Formats: sequence, structure tokens, C-alpha cells
Amino acid sequence: MALLVKNGNVVLEHGVELTDVKIEDGKFSAIGPDMLAGSQDQVIDASGKFVLPGLIDAHVHYKMGIGNVFTIDNFETGSRAALFGGVTTVVDYAEPTPGVTMDEALILRKAEASGASFVDYTFHVVASSDVVATREELAKLKAAGVNSLKLFTIYDLKIPYEEMEKIIALCSELDMVVTIHAEDELIVSDKIAELKAEGKVAPRYHGVSRPAQAEVFAVERIVEMAKKYDTHVHIVHVSAGETAERIKAAQKDGVRISGETCPHYLLLTDEAYEREDAQLFIMQPPLRSEDDRELLWKNVEEGTFAMFTTDHCAYCEAQKYNADTFFETNGGIPGTETLFPSLNTAGVGGGHISFETLVKMLSVNPAKTFGLYPKKGIIQLGSDADLVIFDPEKEVTISRETVHTAAQYSTFEGMELKGYPVATILRGHLMCQDGKFIQGDPIGQFVNIVE
Ligand code: URP
Ligand code: ZN
Ligand code: ZN
Repeated sequence: MALLVKNGNVVLEHGVELTDVKIEDGKFSAIGPDMLAGSQDQVIDASGKFVLPGLIDAHVHYKMGIGNVFTIDNFETGSRAALFGGVTTVVDYAEPTPGVTMDEALILRKAEASGASFVDYTFHVVASSDVVATREELAKLKAAGVNSLKLFTIYDLKIPYEEMEKIIALCSELDMVVTIHAEDELIVSDKIAELKAEGKVAPRYHGVSRPAQAEVFAVERIVEMAKKYDTHVHIVHVSAGETAERIKAAQKDGVRISGETCPHYLLLTDEAYEREDAQLFIMQPPLRSEDDRELLWKNVEEGTFAMFTTDHCAYCEAQKYNADTFFETNGGIPGTETLFPSLNTAGVGGGHISFETLVKMLSVNPAKTFGLYPKKGIIQLGSDADLVIFDPEKEVTISRETVHTAAQYSTFEGMELKGYPVATILRGHLMCQDGKFIQGDPIGQFVNIVE
């Protein structure tokens, strides 16, 4: 039995074509107009809709623990919510706990996702100062099917620049991507200490507590290392306009550096920290100024960023209001299910990028960066049949009632969107349609790197 998606505006590698797509055994088996359905075949009419490759959110944190506090979306709730936004693959994190090696952490995380996730998944493996990151250890990760390491300049996971340099050198030899949370620890901790000394600890000080300069400074150091070893480094959740400018300049200089930014940095500003519910907007790095927001969009237009991600790190309101200081509030917000529709309205509707570019930045680009292409990220014969049917006319005002995250709120509450996914297919399985969840089993699989 085949699944036929008929008469859709299909986003193919070379452009949009009004055509049909046939799926058999979880793969795309034919693409072409006027396909005839067999008596056993399931048919979805996509007239007037766009048909896109399943989208990838390359930065999520499901059930991430800091001390004894865990993000509220686990693989089950987070991935189910993701499907409603057209996301069929996520890249989560495997983080070694004390005494656990990186490859053991990967095995444990794979086991946690298996039988729980409704979308396919892979991982960035975290290398902190507590793990032994020799060439052999890193090679084990590649053999286990991942090509991406994650380094943090802050938190307990932080790694000093000297250690970072050693890992960047090794990853050049192994052809692995080094993804980095870039906020200079010293600049941030000095600023936080200064604010604390002045008694400025309310959530409204979150923005000033982590200056843009901390991100710019860290990225400058990273650029030097990427250049020296010719390693692909990827800067996650870029928040400041000036950081994007530095990444662009390095790219022009031939440095293998890519970046991602997130809807919250493009749609919101640090004015949110003046609100009563400022805690709901606390994440690291923080929201920035209107000038930053505009400069980020300019860099999106210029092609500086390879992809958009969400840094989905969902806490419910009780967890967000756990404290009344900016430095004790749990940092992170939900976002995967609004990733694509919010950027369609603000980015495509706002005239910043074309629809095709938006789709590329959420499919083929992350798939290529993290070794998943052409299994993922493209509608092409033989690729995994992950599809999104997108209604460009569907209007949704984001609210607590429209989102599916266990956080039960959205930082984009009240935003009026035009265009929304109406069906999502994972490897040929219709997972959700018209706002209803269809597939009952968590059939998500680990995606091995394609070599
Ligand atoms: O506030 C955030 N972003 N929390 C998640 C961890 C991280 O830094 O990505
Ligand atoms: Zn981060
Ligand atoms: Zn993150």
C-alpha cells in the first residue's frame, strides 16, 4: 500500500513544482504529475497547499537536568508537540554525567529516546572539562553515528578556551562539527557580580547581566581557532547583531564557521524584561535590543545563518516563576512547534527571505551540517518520506490553547500567524492532521550519519 500526496506545490531541490509525491515503505518512491492511486492506496489531497520536506530543529533539550530540575518536555511530549509544527527530526543533547564517557552518554540517551520519541532524532554530544576527549573517544562517537560535539563556554559544563582549542584541532582531523554556546564566562560573571553588588537582581536585569559583548568576544576567540585548524565550528543561538557580523566577516575570510539564530531573537526584544511576566522570557543568551534584532534580520537576508533552531528548553510557568531573581530563574523557553510558522509570517511575510530559503534553512541545511543528508532534509527518490503539508492561508493566533508543549505557554502568545502546517508525515506515517494526533506509537528512530 502506498501513500499518495496529490496536487501539492511541492518544494523540491530546484524549486516549487505542482506535482504528486508517492511514498512506499517509508521512502519517496515517485515524484511526478497525475499519478494514479491503486485501490489499496491512501490519498491525501494537497491542493492549494505546499508540500515540504519534514523540518529539522537542530537544537532541543528534552528532559534536560540541571541539578534536580528537569525541563518539562521529555522525548514524548516534546516530539509530539514538534510534529504539530512540521518538525520530523530533532537534534537533542547527550550529556555525560560524572564518571560517564561520551560514548556511554550517547548510548544512554539513545535508549531514553527509543520507544519514547514521535520524531526521528540524533544528538550533539557534550564535551565538558569532566570528560576525556581524546582522538579515540571522539572517533567512537563518529562510529556510533554522530558527527557533532557541543561545547559550552558557560554553566558547569564550561570548557576553558585552551581545552576548546585541543578539541577543535582533533575535530578537524575527524571531520566533526564543533557546535558552541558562545558567551564569555568572565564577562558574564563580572557583570552578574556587579549587578548583585548593586542589588539589581530582579528579572528585569537579565538582559544587561549577559552583555552582547560576551558573545562577540567568545566568537572572536572561536574564529581564531576554527581558522587555525580549518575545523567546522557552528555557533548556536546567535543573539547579537554584532556576533552575526563577525561570523559573516569570518566566512568571507574562508573560515569554516556557520551559525544559527532562533525565532525569539528575531521576533522579540529585551523590552520583554520590563513585563510583569519577565521570567517567562529568560533564556541564555538573553533577548537583545531592537538594533540587534534588525541586524540579525539583515544577516538572515544576507545568508550569514545556515539555519534556524529553537533551543527548545521548556519549563512550565511554575518552574519559570521558581525565583524572583534573574540568576535563579530557570533559563530556557519552548519553541519547536512555532519555529516554522512564526518565521513564515515574520520572515517570509515580512519580506526578509523567500519561502524556499526558509524551508532550506529548516531542512536541507541542518541535514547537511549534521550528516543526515540525503536521508533527511529533501524530497527526493529514496530519501526518508518525511513531509509537511502547509496551508498558506490558515490563520492561527498563538495562545496557550494552540500549543502542545507541556510548558503550556508560548513566548509568542497573541502573535497572529498566516500559514500553518496542517499535516505531518514521518517515514510515510501520517502523524498528525488538522490539529489532531493520528499516530499512536512513538515510532521515532535514531538517524545515523550518512557517510
Ligand atoms: O536558556 C537556555 N538557552 N537554556 C538551554 C541551555 C542552552 O544554553 O542552550
Ligand atoms: Zn546554549
Ligand atoms: Zn540550548
